[in-house]
Parts: sequence; structure tokens; C-alpha cells
Amino acid sequence: MSSNTNPLDNFKVTNKVALVTGAAQGIGAACATLLAQAGAKVVLTDLQEDKVGQTARQLTEQGLQATSCQHDASEPDDWDRAVSTCLSHFGGLDIVVNNAGIFLGGLLMENSLKQVRKINQINIESVFLGMKYPVAAMKPGGIAGNGGTIINLSSMAGLVGVPGHTAYGASKGAVRLYSKHAAVEFAKLGYGIRVNSVHPGLIDTAMGDQAFQDFVDMGLAPDIAAAKAYVEQLTPLGRLGTAEEVAQTVLFLASNAASYITGAEFVVDGGVTAQ
Ligand SMILES: NC(=O)c1ccc[n+]([C@@H]2O[C@H](COP(=O)([O-])OP(=O)(O)OC[C@H]3O[C@@H](n4cnc5c(N)ncnc54)[C@H](O)[C@@H]3O)[C@@H](O)[C@H]2O)c1
Repeated sequence: MSSNTNPLDNFKVTNKVALVTGAAQGIGAACATLLAQAGAKVVLTDLQEDKVGQTARQLTEQGLQATSCQHDASEPDDWDRAVSTCLSHFGGLDIVVNNAGIFLGGLLMENSLKQVRKINQINIESVFLGMKYPVAAMKPGGIAGNGGTIINLSSMAGLVGVPGHTAYGASKGAVRLYSKHAAVEFAKLGYGIRVNSVHPGLIDTAMGDQAFQDFVDMGLAPDIAAAKAYVEQLTPLGRLGTAEEVAQTVLFLASNAASYITGAEFVVDGGVTAQ
């Protein structure tokens, strides 16, 4: 590195091409927004075509570089299309944020096999596809070919037990280890691709609301206000997290500032799992 390089430039992602799944709302929208504000050209994808289009338009109206693409992250053909959009629209692919996911609560004894298969398909298989298809383009000799970085959204529930979260937590535990194994494999193969997982605690999004409702439905809290108060009290920082706070960690991992970090797990939970 030359002596006149500003080390703070490593925290930018200027002109990198980023693909963010599940970007219509919540954590995905926050990641896409922050990456675009940090200089990336961002392809926002989601099942919800209209909504993700609207989120992308809000970014372009601010002068940021963004486009959108309808995408079921658990479908291989859709991955072909999403990666092609990155290449045709922005000429490359450097950063992938595998954020799309669903929540399934309920007690283990009440979960059906059909429900468990569905959550595994969306939360685990989409991460498998979200590494396989982009990496084919990003690795040396691929059509983008510059290496890059992949950030997979796991959860605090992928690290520790939470009542009513067995199926969701198991799917997110798989995301954690998929990330570590892929990180080691890609490094050994000289792909120049880092892979890390991010583990949010309870974040104030639509999915966060779903988790609170589930606590109530299972009889673990009398109402949503009580469920929220319980989580806030359990959290050393005393509040829920925001989507923007998760996005800040994702941006760091996407940037060259994280150049020596791969196969690691980043907990963004206000201290819950530190206790
Ligand atoms: N909110 C939390 O408390 C929390 C905590 C830990 C981890 N997470 C994880 O963070 C990620 C984002 O969560 P969020 O809170 O923003 O959720 P959210 O429900 O607000 O948004 C999820 C987005 O993913 C999209 N999506 C769902 N299935 C999809 C599919 N098959 N293909 C493409 N898009 C799909 C939805 O349309 C939606 O726009 C998820 O992986 C979630 O498991 C969230």
C-alpha cells in the first residue's frame, strides 16, 4: 500500500457492484441504501416486485446508483436472472448480501414437517444458491472475475436457544456454518472471496413484529407490549436494534476495511448473547 493512500478509503465501496436479496424492506432495504450511499452500484432483489422497485427508485431519486429485479432467492433460475442483471446493468458483481429470509415461530411440538421444510428451503437453500450462482461469476475466470465478498444474514437465534424459535434458529444455525465452510473453501481455492455471517438480535422490522406476536400466541407474554418490554429488559443496551445498525456492520464487512476477515460471525444484538 502506498504511503499516500488514505486508510479511510478502505471503508468505502465506491463503484463496487452489490446484490442485496430481500431488499424491498427492513434490513435488506437498509443494507442496499447504506451500500449505495457508500458508493456502490446496487441491485435490489425481492419476491415483492413492486415494493423493491419502489425502494430502488427512492435511491435513484437521491442520485444513488440502484436498480431492482424480481427474485425468489430460493429459485435457481431467478439467481441466473439476478446475477445477469448485475452484469448487464452495472458490469460486474463484487458484493452479495444474502438477506432474504422468513420467520417461523411456534413450539417444536406444534411445528409441522411441511413448515420446517419451507423455512429450510427459504432460509438455507437461498443462501446456498446465493453463494453458488454469484461465486461462479465472481471467482477468477468468472464473467465478473474480481473476487469479492459475501455477507449472509443469520441471527442471534443461529447461535443460542430461544423459546419458540427452534425451526428458525436451526435454519439460521445452518447459515452460520454454511458461511464458515464456504469461507474456508473459497480461500483455499484462491477465489479471493470472503464470506461472513451477521447475527442480529431483535430488530425493529416487520419480522421483529412477527416474533413479538409469536411470543404472545405461544403464551410466553400476555401482549405485544409486554413481549417488547421483556426483550428490552433482557438486552444490556436496553432497546431493540434498528435495521440501519445491522446495515452498518454489513457495510464494514463488504468493504476492504474487512480485508482480513473471513469465516467470522458478527453479532449485532445489543449484548444479549454476551450474558
Ligand atoms: N428482524 C429481526 O429481528 C431479525 C433478527 C435476526 C435476523 N434477521 C434476519 O434478517 C433478514 C431480514 O429480516 P427483516 O427483519 O428485514 O425481515 P422482513 O420480513 O422485514 O423482510 C424480509 C424481506 O425478504 C423478502 N423475502 C422473503 N422470502 C423471500 C424469497 N424467497 N426471495 C426473495 N425475497 C424474499 C420479503 O419479501 C421481505 O422484503 C432475514 O434473513 C432475517 O431472518 C432478522
